[in-house]
Amino acid sequence: MKIIFASQNQGKVNEVKNIFNNSPFEIISLYDLGNNIDVDETGKTFSENAWLKVKSVFDIYNEPTIADDSGLIIDQLDGRPGVISARYAGEKCTYEENNLKVIKELSSFPEPHKAKFVSTAVYYDGKNKIEAVGELHGIIIKEQRGTMGFGYDPIFIPDGYNITVGEMDLEIKNKISHRARSFNLLKQKLITLFVD
Ligand code: IMP
Repeated sequence: MKIIFASQNQGKVNEVKNIFNNSPFEIISLYDLGNNIDVDETGKTFSENAWLKVKSVFDIYNEPTIADDSGLIIDQLDGRPGVISARYAGEKCTYEENNLKVIKELSSFPEPHKAKFVSTAVYYDGKNKIEAVGELHGIIIKEQRGTMGFGYDPIFIPDGYNITVGEMDLEIKNKISHRARSFNLLKQKLITLFVD
């Protein structure tokens, strides 16, 4: 069964294709379809934004579609950057500008700076609506370390590790990440619905 993945982020596409490898589902990216639809993320929650993405692409192709919305939640910043994680330092800002803004804002708070990455993954086929959430808990550090991954990876150390996600092999990130958790759960729910 073919499922369209409504994402422009090639890093995410690779992660999700990897998760659905050897499953009854074949993931087709927007890039594979030659489409670069950009959805305005106007929702107040990860769930709302994920549904906006999935619905926009479903309305074009009328085929089973999955999407996710994700971000970083920092306790001492009252949950920021949250749903505006991608554009925390401003529209079209770089990952580094976001990281530096977070480091600056945390400078007046005592350590540890507890945080979590959250991913809400959704599936829609016109009839069935399925949602799955994954989280990765850890702490934020005050310097950027490592060049792997993307986004806030260089300032985030997952619980149980002493390296940032930016210093971690992608293979390990793909096993423990919030997105690995949400999409593996979604895959299990789809197998229960369509295969079992
Ligand atoms: P979106 O889910 O594509 O809207 O991305 C939201 C933003 O959250 C990204 O641009 C990153 O800033 C951040 N983010 C989401 N997942 C990760 C991750 O795995 N590592 C680092 N940052 C992430």
